[in-house]
Amino acid sequence: MTSTASWDPAGYLRFGDERARPFTDLLARVGAREPRTVVDLGCGEGALTASLAQRWPGARVTGVDSSPEMLAAAAAHAVPGRVTFTQGDVQGWQPGEPVDVLVTNAVLHWVPGHADLLRRWAGQLAPGGWLALQVPGNWRAPTHALLAGLCRAPRWAGLVGDAAPAEDAVLDPAGYLEVLSGAGLTTDAWETTYLHVLRGDDPVLGWVRSTVLRPVLARLGEDDAAELTAEYAAALRAAYPRRPDGTTLLPFRRVFAVGHAG
Ligand SMILES: C[S@@+](CC[C@H](N)C(=O)[O-])C[C@H]1O[C@@H](n2cnc3c(N)ncnc32)[C@H](O)[C@@H]1O
Repeated sequence: MTSTASWDPAGYLRFGDERARPFTDLLARVGAREPRTVVDLGCGEGALTASLAQRWPGARVTGVDSSPEMLAAAAAHAVPGRVTFTQGDVQGWQPGEPVDVLVTNAVLHWVPGHADLLRRWAGQLAPGGWLALQVPGNWRAPTHALLAGLCRAPRWAGLVGDAAPAEDAVLDPAGYLEVLSGAGLTTDAWETTYLHVLRGDDPVLGWVRSTVLRPVLARLGEDDAAELTAEYAAALRAAYPRRPDGTTLLPFRRVFAVGHAG
């Protein structure tokens, strides 16, 4: 699976609070006191990147992202000399100087073979630097399993190709611990399953529209996209039933790792 389809910052922000929480939980384990160089790789629409500058007022914070749509939204969070955003692929990114804090939140599941990138980034940390990552770990959840099943069906397989969610896109916490500790970092890795309480009609579909469904629909024409979406929506309604109070629960597993070059 790749992230080549265009991103929708507004759709992504619809669940901004739920999506900000793992970032906060991740950064809570980063003990940097007065970093000078902070990088947010795959920064998205920039609000969380800007929060890094609030936490570390003396730092120069750089957000890097490949999506022009996300960077256009991020421009609103730029602060000359303090918070800047640049377009680039994280796979080719090279720091101009050793990095004190490197954050990558909800990005690496789009980057195949990212264990090698993590090893490289670990080597680009300044002495005492920190590397913090978070990835969704919900590839076996109905959201992903149902979509993967649809994409394998004869009706869709030839059209959507490799856009379906890949089971091996991320490692478990133990896998990231091995990678980062193998690269010489003192590592803390864990997982959390958040229980999101969603409101409105088809809220789980609304959630995945801006993430895992996005690259699949990008491969389809309008009519086919509507047909696949309707089929997927019906399956999601059965897997995530609306509760008597009108809410819908979405359990969401996430995997975290923080390495310290201490
Ligand atoms: C789910 S969003 C997360 C954004 C932000 N980190 C956050 O937590 O809100 C994933 C972001 O990763 C970016 N992205 C995915 N693959 C990338 C790559 N290879 N290089 C740069 N950015 C990438 C996308 O453009 C998108 O903005």
